[in-house]
Amino acid sequence: MKKKLIAGNWKMNGSLTANDALVRALVTGGAGKGCLVAVCVPAPYLAQVQSLTAGTGIDLGAQDVSQHEVGAFTGEASSAMLRDFGVRYCLVGHSERRQYHGETDAAVAAKAQRALAAGITPVVCVGETLAEREAGLTEEVVKRQLAAVIHTNGHCISEIVVAYEPVWAIGTGKTASTEQAQQVHAVLRTQLRAATPHADKMHILYGGSMNAANAAQLLSQADIDGGLVGGAALKPADFLAIIAAAQ
Ligand code: 13P
Repeated sequence: MKKKLIAGNWKMNGSLTANDALVRALVTGGAGKGCLVAVCVPAPYLAQVQSLTAGTGIDLGAQDVSQHEVGAFTGEASSAMLRDFGVRYCLVGHSERRQYHGETDAAVAAKAQRALAAGITPVVCVGETLAEREAGLTEEVVKRQLAAVIHTNGHCISEIVVAYEPVWAIGTGKTASTEQAQQVHAVLRTQLRAATPHADKMHILYGGSMNAANAAQLLSQADIDGGLVGGAALKPADFLAIIAAAQ
């Protein structure tokens, strides 16, 4: 059976001191020995967390990547630069990037392509806003977001991870019910099956207020292959509990 993947998204949190304590606590707690575990850290801390996680089984992730290869793109980091630091996963199209930085479906697809070309697994984030859910547009929105990535990445599509993150559940303490989450995951799996024979081996993660209390139930669903965890990933005991629920 495929191992589940639990990825922490630290967002814009952390410091040299806090990161050191957090990663050491995760290692002491056995993270990376059972299910797949990754931490997606702010770019300035890639080198620090690369050395803290070396040999532990915890994989290193980034939170964004440039859609360009190299050149005059002030403030951006390329996929080759991320690779230099041993980055294994990179979030692309997180709703906070789509919302605050105007990232379009096409830009997200191009970022996924750059990551794949550098040997980095893009974690493609999709999800509807509350208004879209209330208007009955959930399926249409997530399918459109994933279709752009499938269209641009062709036969490489089996190398991506998909994360379903309903925007209304992010950082709000409101989690999608297991039924709501599983329903959307099933839609995404069907879409992947139409694109690749390897869809059943791929990971579709749930994100949006996943915590120590609700993880086991979410992770018991047929098409929920792991979690993308925000707030709870900053608390070692909570993140370790989520990891325990995944193995
Ligand atoms: P929370 O777990 O804090 O809701 O964040 C989810 C998320 O956005 C992970 O990428």
